[in-house]
Amino acid sequence: MHASFLNRKSRRVLALVLVLASTAILAAGAASASAGHGHRGFGHSRASITSQPWGTADGTPVNLYTLDNGRGMTVTITNFGGIVQSINVPDRHGQVANVALGFSNLAGYVSDDYTTTASGETYFGAIIGRYANRIANGSFTLNGVTYYLNQNNGTNTLHGGAPVSQWNTKVWAATPISGRHSVSLELTYTDPAGTAARVPPMAPPAGNGFPGTVTAKVVYTLTQDDALRMDYTATTDAPTVINLTNHTYFNLAGEGSGGVQGQDLMINADSYTPVNANLIPEGGIVPVAGTPFDFRTAKPIGQDINSGDTQLVLAHGFDHNWVLNRSGSGLSLAARAYDPASGRVLTTWTTEPGVQFYSGNFLVGDLVGTSGHTYRQTDGFTLETQHYPDSPNQPNFPSVVLKPGQVYKNTIIFKFSVQK
Ligand code: BGC
Repeated sequence: MHASFLNRKSRRVLALVLVLASTAILAAGAASASAGHGHRGFGHSRASITSQPWGTADGTPVNLYTLDNGRGMTVTITNFGGIVQSINVPDRHGQVANVALGFSNLAGYVSDDYTTTASGETYFGAIIGRYANRIANGSFTLNGVTYYLNQNNGTNTLHGGAPVSQWNTKVWAATPISGRHSVSLELTYTDPAGTAARVPPMAPPAGNGFPGTVTAKVVYTLTQDDALRMDYTATTDAPTVINLTNHTYFNLAGEGSGGVQGQDLMINADSYTPVNANLIPEGGIVPVAGTPFDFRTAKPIGQDINSGDTQLVLAHGFDHNWVLNRSGSGLSLAARAYDPASGRVLTTWTTEPGVQFYSGNFLVGDLVGTSGHTYRQTDGFTLETQHYPDSPNQPNFPSVVLKPGQVYKNTIIFKFSVQK
């Protein structure tokens, strides 16, 4: 009896030793793989996607997913609002920093959406839908019917309307996908149709106010060449308007490290759409030549930001739509940002006709970010590739109408590299 007990016990000890040894081997393999980051050959990488519970929103469990390309870049994304919570990329010396502004936990994002702060709702890192940026007077007319939306930005509808209507407040269904040379996270959400049109809009509409139930999918892919790619598709069961984007604020020196005024920006655009005092495009498409909006040749973000230009005064800095120079209908270069201090470069491509470059004008230092630092004006910038603001009310802008049977498609690429 005693002997057989000892035998069982020693068998268990032996099994434990074997398990520990194999774990160590895996760990060593992982260590050598990460030590091999100097190698940029695809054969040496070990891309992975892992998840951890990250709390609940509206009683639904939320996860934080970590996409690791096995080559030194990781991105964390939560299925709450499809928010890109961090983007961790090396500088020219291999030092990794998180270049995306955000919060350290889910409560930070929920509070950003539902608590009134002086900085307003920031939409850090989020998927923006059903209509990114502003729709004037919270209404538009489609096929002869006027629709009334939630007005959440003065009289405008901004980024989908009231928080309860915004896609960045929804828990998206998530499916991790491991490819041969990349890892992806697929997110889906079905946005119900709002109420039918009412005249006049005496009360906020029930739901978002937009016609049509929209079924949306966003696939985030982290590639071997340090690109975060976002593929958006959507369909509708009734004619509607749609404009989707991602709302990541970048600071290429690392979030919470101060201002981005010294970081260079090139925007591939010969013209932009000036705005009125409500930040609604006035309708014109105006050349950037000879204005502070000329980013055709890279220049520091801060170079002209205090120039006193009327448009910069209205928006408290840059918060405008640039009309991109496009070649064909596929992916096209939108912008390139470069931080001379760290050497980090961000290059953005898009299938969309415009980019909203926003210089974080409304951050006033009342939000504590991921690393425990406050965010103040110009501590980050966004490059929101999308259709032009207020397109549903602007007949000379490209159409944002989506009809049943059509598939809305939009691809965004944020690619990172270093310049020596
Ligand atoms: C808008 C800004 C707004 C910011 C955060 C940007 O996309 O253009 O005007 O303040 O989002 O809400």
